[in-house]
Amino acid sequence: MSLIGTLFDAPSRLTVLDPLAARAAAVADRVLPGGRVRALLHGRPFGHPAHPAMAQLPVGTSVSALLLDVAAAVLPGGRALRAPARGLTAVALASAVPTAAAGWADYTGLHPDQQRTALVHASGNALAVACWGASLLAGRRAPLLRSAGTLAAGAAGALGGHLAYRWAAGPNHAEHLPHLAGDGKEHVDVGALEDLPDGELTQVRAGDAPLCVLRRGASVLALADTCTHLGAGLHGGRVREGERGPEVVCPWHDSAFRFADGRVVGGPATAPQPTVDVRVVGGRVLARLDAPPQP
Ligand code: FES
Repeated sequence: MSLIGTLFDAPSRLTVLDPLAARAAAVADRVLPGGRVRALLHGRPFGHPAHPAMAQLPVGTSVSALLLDVAAAVLPGGRALRAPARGLTAVALASAVPTAAAGWADYTGLHPDQQRTALVHASGNALAVACWGASLLAGRRAPLLRSAGTLAAGAAGALGGHLAYRWAAGPNHAEHLPHLAGDGKEHVDVGALEDLPDGELTQVRAGDAPLCVLRRGASVLALADTCTHLGAGLHGGRVREGERGPEVVCPWHDSAFRFADGRVVGGPATAPQPTVDVRVVGGRVLARLDAPPQP
C-alpha cells in the first residue's frame, strides 16, 4: 500500500483509543434520541447513511469561505468579501452540529477498528469546529482561523472517506447477494422441508448466496443472510413478532428486518435486506433471491 494509504490505515490500529471509544459509544447511546429521530440520524428513510450527505453543508460552506478569504487577500478592494466569508463560516458551524449527531449515531454500531478511525475523524472535525468558532470572535486573525479549521475538516473528511470505502463503514453489505444467486431469474432447490428445524433460524445456500430461513410448519420464510449493516449472519440472531409479521433481529447490533419485505424496522441498518421468494413443492424448498427492495 502507498504511504498515504498506510497513514490513513494507522488510526485503526491505535488500540490505546479503545477505552475512549467505548465511552463515546456509551455516551452516544445515552444522549442521542431513539425512535424515529435516531432512524433519521442513521438515514434509514433514504436507504443509506445520512451523515456523509449532511457533511456537504459544513464542507461546502467552509471551503467557500476559504475561497472568499483568498480572494479578499489578493483582489483589490477584496476586504468586502470578509463579511460573507464570516457568514458562511457561521453556517458551517451551525450545520456541523446535526452532522456530528448523525455520525455519532452511526459510530455506536461500528467494529472497534472502525471506531478508532472514526474517533480520529471526529477529533479532526472537533478541531475544525473550534477554529471556526474562534474565528467568529477573532479580529484580524479570523481568516487564519477559518482556513485552519477548513484544512482540519478536509483532512478529517478524507479519513472519513477512507473509513467508508476502505473499512466499509456505511455501505450496504448485501448488495452483491442477488447477483451471486443469479439475479432473481429462477428458483433454486435449497433442500428438503423436513431437514429445516421448525421454528428456528437456519442458514441454507442458494447458489453461492447464503439465506436466512425460518420454517414454520409447512411454510418457509427467508431473507438474504448477510446483514446489510455490517455483514453479520442473520441466522445467528433471533425472531420477534412485529406488527406486520415476523422479523429477524441481527446478532451484532440489533438491526431488525421484516421477513415480508426486507424492510429495516430497527437498529442502525439503513439498506433493506434482499428478500427471497420461497415455494415448497413436493417437500422440496425452492428459493429465489430477489433484487434489493426499496427502503
Ligand atoms: S451487522 Fe450490524 S446490525 Fe447486523
